[in-house]
Amino acid sequence: MELKDKVVLVTGSTRGIGLAIAENFLAAGAKVILNGRGEALPETVTLDGDYAYVSGDLGTVAGAKQLAKDALAVYGQVDILVNNAGINQDKLFVGMKDEAIDQVLAVDLRGPIALTQALFKQMLKARAGVIINLASVVGLHGNAGQANYAAAKAGLVGFTKTIAREGALRGVRANAIAPGMIESAMTAALSERVQAQIKDEIPLNRLGQPAEVAQAARFLVENDYVTGQTIVVDGGMTI
Ligand SMILES: NC(=O)c1ccc[n+]([C@@H]2O[C@H](COP(=O)([O-])OP(=O)(O)OC[C@H]3O[C@@H](n4cnc5c(N)ncnc54)[C@H](OP(=O)(O)O)[C@@H]3O)[C@@H](O)[C@H]2O)c1
Repeated sequence: MELKDKVVLVTGSTRGIGLAIAENFLAAGAKVILNGRGEALPETVTLDGDYAYVSGDLGTVAGAKQLAKDALAVYGQVDILVNNAGINQDKLFVGMKDEAIDQVLAVDLRGPIALTQALFKQMLKARAGVIINLASVVGLHGNAGQANYAAAKAGLVGFTKTIAREGALRGVRANAIAPGMIESAMTAALSERVQAQIKDEIPLNRLGQPAEVAQAARFLVENDYVTGQTIVVDGGMTI
């Protein structure tokens, strides 16, 4: 699929990986709908191209459905959905509180499922569409302290494969990206000691950049023969 003039919704695109995906797709000539929970894009964000911002909270099913409606109202359609918004609330499983489990599953799994369902119908009808879900290497391999996050991300991988099967006959593709350790607010929250430890485990010996994840998203839109896959972007961390 060519990105030029296509309408892309990127959830959680006020910063980090989502913002890098929005920038990449704008540079390719797409119309991009950015999203976050705030009223407007942060003032520090400057973008070139045809874009809009839609406020919406993926933490509830109602919020996700409303976001689908509001996004469709902007340009009349959504051709490409990037389920990028995500949160983590890490703690060893024995001490993990119900709220931490519920909130992470809500934003990282239930919200994206509700949003996708609301837009999937329109894509099937149009007989075209691309869905990209931001999973994580943690969803493929597990990680101590991230039982809630790993469950949500593994759920996204299974969800991706299923909608890829259901969408295939009507021209709709779905893929996931599993980043390793990418420089963003999410990873900046880790202590320097933990960041250094993780870096040592990465064969390419550095954290990834949000723009490098965006390149994978671009490939997954432009290549028409890839569906149901999870592309790992992790500097070799999980070799
Ligand atoms: N960074 C990594 O190393 C890494 C690794 C593997 C996977 N990932 C995944 O990649 C995605 C992006 O990560 P990131 O590192 O770029 O994260 P980030 O810098 O923390 O950005 C998260 C984005 O999600 C938005 N968001 C959070 N809660 C939301 C909600 N309830 N409704 C709507 N938007 C919400 C935030 O917007 P507001 O705060 O403005 O609402 C922000 O734009 C996530 O799904 C993450 O799990 C990241």
